[in-house]
Amino acid sequence: METHTPTRAEAYQLLLAHNSNDSLIKHALSVEAVMRYMGRKFGEDADTWGIIGLVHDLDYEEFPELHCKKSPEFLREAGWPEEYIRAVVSHGWGICSDVEPLSRLEKTLYAIDELTGLVKAAALMRPSRSVLDMEASSVKKKWKDKKFAAGVNREVIEKGAALLGVDLTELISDTIMGMREAAREIGLAGAAQ
Ligand SMILES: [Fe+2]
Ligand SMILES: [Fe+2]
Repeated sequence: METHTPTRAEAYQLLLAHNSNDSLIKHALSVEAVMRYMGRKFGEDADTWGIIGLVHDLDYEEFPELHCKKSPEFLREAGWPEEYIRAVVSHGWGICSDVEPLSRLEKTLYAIDELTGLVKAAALMRPSRSVLDMEASSVKKKWKDKKFAAGVNREVIEKGAALLGVDLTELISDTIMGMREAAREIGLAGAAQ
């Protein structure tokens, strides 16, 4: 198939074709929202950033053992350009792929993927159960508590922030800001839902 520039609607359809798990879909929407926010902040194409965020874990639900291996097949079959595929695969650098994040988009995806999980866990600890009234300090307080959100790899986030050349606290604030824009869709709008 010839490649084409994918639309957001197409990306969302593809996501739903391969994912039915509610928390995985919410994770995809969270990463999309943060990528969109960051793309805008860096003055780049927020739509492209968001689309890549939305499909970054495309293969995970169906092929957890082949994570980062099946997504390129799905995306190639759907006619997605190689630069999108490279970006998707690079989020698993050192974990499920050997593709190093090089572009600003790729470094951002690598840095914020796990961080969205930590922000979510910290938001759910709050009385409001919301990201709308939450600040970076809530996440920072839990940073060294290894038992809290134990599945979230803090080292990957720190490595990502360093790759990107941004301050960790600022990255956490930006991730919260991005997630606020999708608070309802990702189930983190608290009582306002
Ligand atoms: Fe992943
Ligand atoms: Fe992810």
